[in-house]
Amino acid sequence: MSKYKIAILAGDGIGPEIMREGVKVLKVIEQRNDVEFELVEAPFGASAYFSHGSSFPEQTQALVDSADAVVKGPIGLSHEESKKIPVDQQPERGALLPLRKRLNTYANFRPVYLPKSLAHFSPLKPEVVGEGIDLIMVRELVGGLYFGHKEMGVDENGVRYVREQLEYDENQIKAILHEAFKLAGARKKVLHNIHKSNVLKSSVLWNEVLEEVAQAYPEVNVVHTLVDAAATALCLNPGQFDVMVMENMFGDILSDQGGGILGSLGLMPSACLGTDGKAYYEPSHGSAPDIAGKQMANPYSMIGSMAMMLEYSFGMQDEAKKVWQAMQSVFADGYSTADLSKPGSGVQMLSTEAFGDKVVEHLIKHG
Ligand code: NAD
Ligand code: IPM
Ligand code: MN
Repeated sequence: MSKYKIAILAGDGIGPEIMREGVKVLKVIEQRNDVEFELVEAPFGASAYFSHGSSFPEQTQALVDSADAVVKGPIGLSHEESKKIPVDQQPERGALLPLRKRLNTYANFRPVYLPKSLAHFSPLKPEVVGEGIDLIMVRELVGGLYFGHKEMGVDENGVRYVREQLEYDENQIKAILHEAFKLAGARKKVLHNIHKSNVLKSSVLWNEVLEEVAQAYPEVNVVHTLVDAAATALCLNPGQFDVMVMENMFGDILSDQGGGILGSLGLMPSACLGTDGKAYYEPSHGSAPDIAGKQMANPYSMIGSMAMMLEYSFGMQDEAKKVWQAMQSVFADGYSTADLSKPGSGVQMLSTEAFGDKVVEHLIKHG
């Protein structure tokens, strides 16, 4: 029997609500496979700051180090609430970025997927959605502006200033590009390189390294697209994209746009893959303070992140596929959560919990 220790970091806002549904799914998978999941919960995020004095307490750091995989709900507070925590200890800077650095999760895979049958979820016209949306953004996750030198101060004239550097070295760029080329090779053999080399030197180095790395993948056709143009193209013709690779900040912004063209950020799971088999899995979206505690959140992103864990961390491809199918079946039966069941949409609204129950029902019946 395989035994895996999974760190469960529920996080803030809708985090605990959607994590609960993901855990239900994991229990079903565990029951019918020769596998044991040791699920260990730990404090992480703003709630941890208030209860433990740190948004990434030492006990959580130790757990993350010893776990076979980590699943994480979104962290963070509303703009106003955030002010209750000193800037450097806010959970984004105090917990999430340190988690990424700690596990060196340089490769963030953010699938943007909507089958044709669910085209009505998208705000794009049916003729734009075409055969559906099926692309994946590969985001560099431990470099760039997020981790570069930062300084704030007051100059000799009493003027406040800030310096924030976008830093990469060629090894970091190589590492993410290899992941993207491999994925493109396994899919449609097209790689969209998203950059801003008309302005940013970081993109100039990125593209230089890309030409070198590309030699090892002659079967992959590279298409260069400037990031601003890519934003428009995602709305006008998402079907032209398959694998898109980009640096950290571009990936942050374009992946939220990915959620936008699907119709909800609740459809955005992700995998954050590091070195030495380390990985953590989280929805791409935030803690959604506007709907927290109301059972309105779509747990697809959290359950989907767990399906990615089954595939990437535990090699359980078949079970991962069944989890995706179960979620698609719930949609196909005409149900969704509040985000995708607006009045007049013809979609029946379920609570977060009821959506999770239906996924579990499908998994048990058909898997
Ligand atoms: P957000 O992603 O939390 O919410 C944006 C919009 O999407 C909201 O209207 C929200 O209700 C909706 N939404 C998000 N997830 C949903 C889901 N599963 N189901 C249905 N609707 C969903 O972005 P925000 O409001 O800008 O940020 C809130 C907080 O989250 C901030 O503190 C931010 O720093 C943090 N954040 C954390 C992560 C993370 O932990 N990885 C990611 C993004 C933002
Ligand atoms: C994401 C989030 C994070 C990011 C924040 C919360 C630090 O927006 O995972 O997309 O910018 O990477
Ligand atoms: Mn983001």
